[in-house]
Amino acid sequence: MASASTSPRTLRKAVLPVAGFGTRVLPATKAIPKELLPVFDRPAIQYVVDEALAAGIEHIVFVTGRNKGAIEDYFDRSYELEVTLQAKNKAEQLAEIGLSVPVAGSMSFVRQQAALGLGHAVWCARDIIGDEPFAVMLPDMLMMAKPSCLAQMVDAYNKVGGNIIAVEPTDTPERYGVITPESRDGRLIKMKGMVEKPKREEAPSNLFISGRYILQPEIFALLESQRPGAGNEIQLTDSMARLMNVQKFHALEYEGTTYDCGDKVGYMRASAAYALASEHGDDVAAVMRDLLANRGK
Ligand code: G1P
Repeated sequence: MASASTSPRTLRKAVLPVAGFGTRVLPATKAIPKELLPVFDRPAIQYVVDEALAAGIEHIVFVTGRNKGAIEDYFDRSYELEVTLQAKNKAEQLAEIGLSVPVAGSMSFVRQQAALGLGHAVWCARDIIGDEPFAVMLPDMLMMAKPSCLAQMVDAYNKVGGNIIAVEPTDTPERYGVITPESRDGRLIKMKGMVEKPKREEAPSNLFISGRYILQPEIFALLESQRPGAGNEIQLTDSMARLMNVQKFHALEYEGTTYDCGDKVGYMRASAAYALASEHGDDVAAVMRDLLANRGK
């Protein structure tokens, strides 16, 4: 039986990089950070925060940039709205806005001053994370899963420790980070390599890194010395590949569906999927059928 001293250190913190410009969703992102664009009835980022909390995360570090202040405001209280809803006895709506208000002191915001890459964004959180394992969650990727994707990863982490990244099959590996699997035990994959944005014909597998990571703090020293890689950016994948030489690394093919909100059609797809999964699903399906039947008329 494993003694308490050998069990992996508890995962308490998550880093959410939200500094990107959202150029693939212009002009909407000229007015509003892409993380706040609605996916059905709530900002996209709310799904990711909910996923983190459902996995036991206690503190979230947002790596933001200029023009992203609205994200910090979204997670604050809205007194005028609360007072108005209270006066009108609107309990349901009060509960809905309560969802976005975290426990006081459980969120931090740090700025990435220049867009130098995902690896650099994660490195910007080093002082707040300190010397403990942490999750990275890319808010472009929404994972519809029960238990949540990060919760499934925490479960695996508690068994095998080390570093764990979520992966899944793709037809377009050149758009992502891709792993080289070594062996497989159910959904858990032992890895022997990974590469960022390989050429299609050189992709080592069809399993792409889908945007959820559990990492050990030793990654920070590697990120600090990381040279720019694909796209001339400091890539998290490159530092993870180096960390893999000295620490355990597993990939988990989680059970659920990923919605990539990286572009306009991706947002639309996510919005439709979450709407269909909501209590309004039947009405939404009827609307969609009607729209398709009358397309172009
Ligand atoms: C980033 C990561 C990549 C990962 C992808 C998932 O790429 O670098 O490894 O597969 O997110 O969305 P980006 O989308 O920032 O180009």
